[in-house]
Amino acid sequence: MTLCSMVHEQTRLIHGDTPCDALQRTPGPPIQRGSTVLLPSCEALYDGGKVTYGRVGLSTQRTLRDALRDLENADEAFIYPSGLTAITGTLLALLSAGDEVLACDTVYNPTRRFLAGTLARYGVTARYFDPADDAEAIRAMITPKTRVIFLESPGSLSFEMQDIPAIAAMAKEAGIMTVIDNTWSAGVLFKPLDHGVDVSIQSLTKYVCGHSDVFMGLAAAKGHAAELLAASSYETGWAVSPDDAYMAIRGLRTLHTRLAQHGAAALQVAKWLEAQPEVHSVMCPALPSDPGHAIWKRDFTGICGLIGAVLQPAPETAVAAMVEQLKLFGLGFSWGGYESLAIPVDPQLKARTHKLSYPGPLLRLHIGLERVDDLIADLRQGLDTLSQDTAAPPRKLRAAG
Ligand SMILES: Cc1ncc(COP(=O)(O)O)c(C=O)c1O
Repeated sequence: MTLCSMVHEQTRLIHGDTPCDALQRTPGPPIQRGSTVLLPSCEALYDGGKVTYGRVGLSTQRTLRDALRDLENADEAFIYPSGLTAITGTLLALLSAGDEVLACDTVYNPTRRFLAGTLARYGVTARYFDPADDAEAIRAMITPKTRVIFLESPGSLSFEMQDIPAIAAMAKEAGIMTVIDNTWSAGVLFKPLDHGVDVSIQSLTKYVCGHSDVFMGLAAAKGHAAELLAASSYETGWAVSPDDAYMAIRGLRTLHTRLAQHGAAALQVAKWLEAQPEVHSVMCPALPSDPGHAIWKRDFTGICGLIGAVLQPAPETAVAAMVEQLKLFGLGFSWGGYESLAIPVDPQLKARTHKLSYPGPLLRLHIGLERVDDLIADLRQGLDTLSQDTAAPPRKLRAAG
């Protein structure tokens, strides 16, 4: 007699699914949803080596983690609900009260906020080095408390490059762990773990997911750092939904193709910008004129779509007017999606310890997947507006009333 014939309809609706033990093959993996994991025995309930609860991730998250582990050449990959939680989760995993972090002054501003806020409350201190500092200059800053060196190269606002292999080798010698925010490379253009870095972090929200509609983060690690991350991510309980994990897996399918297109278009725009009279200089490590070009050429296999331009001196209002009337470049934070974006970034640079001084305002562009000649035409009409507004006498404020 089957369960169906013996029990009430209410009970059948709860227990009556026909178990699907033969999934049809599709190009993408199945999305497995579940908090409770049903186990075959009481012994299995307490088997620490098995998945016994869905928060740690089921088959969809595991498929994604395996792919990301391979992408970053890591021992293990941990996923988080945003890029920022990957950063904060990694720092929580590696640090203890009384430790110190040496961070590159290019780090993402919320990383700086976490160090100054939560981690300071837990007794962790932070000092910032200039991105132009070499390994020996950083070595000179190390104290017995230094536990982690946090890197980001190129910086996502000002695009300075650091000699990551030299810094990682120096840190290893000194017994200090290195962590890098590797979002700009998308894990494709640069492989930090192959160069001795312990943890490579990415905001998967950017290029991996690639469509400006999913938040997710990655910490890919080797050796002892991977062990610390495994323990801490289990203890802190960050969980990623299987639907979002599926979206990231889908993004990985086209990651190389999209990045190649973003990079080729960004280089074309960068070269074009260099020749425009309203532009003082362009920040793109693939340009021979960029101060980080030699390091980029040695360590990276390409560029993504994120570049910067220092404009000739112009009033803040004129730059705002230019950006606001661009037709194809959206005005908004983030990057790595299919669409182009433009923002003035000077306000974000105020947080830096080692102050920057540029001859004019700094604009950050994300070059999306639109036709590059359309993007250049849009930028040209924007620069025309900028020239007119810069040449015109400053607008008078209308008297009140
Ligand atoms: C360099 C960099 N790292 C990390 C993050 C944080 O990523 P998320 O928005 O996924 O939290 C960002 C977001 O803009 C970023 O630009």
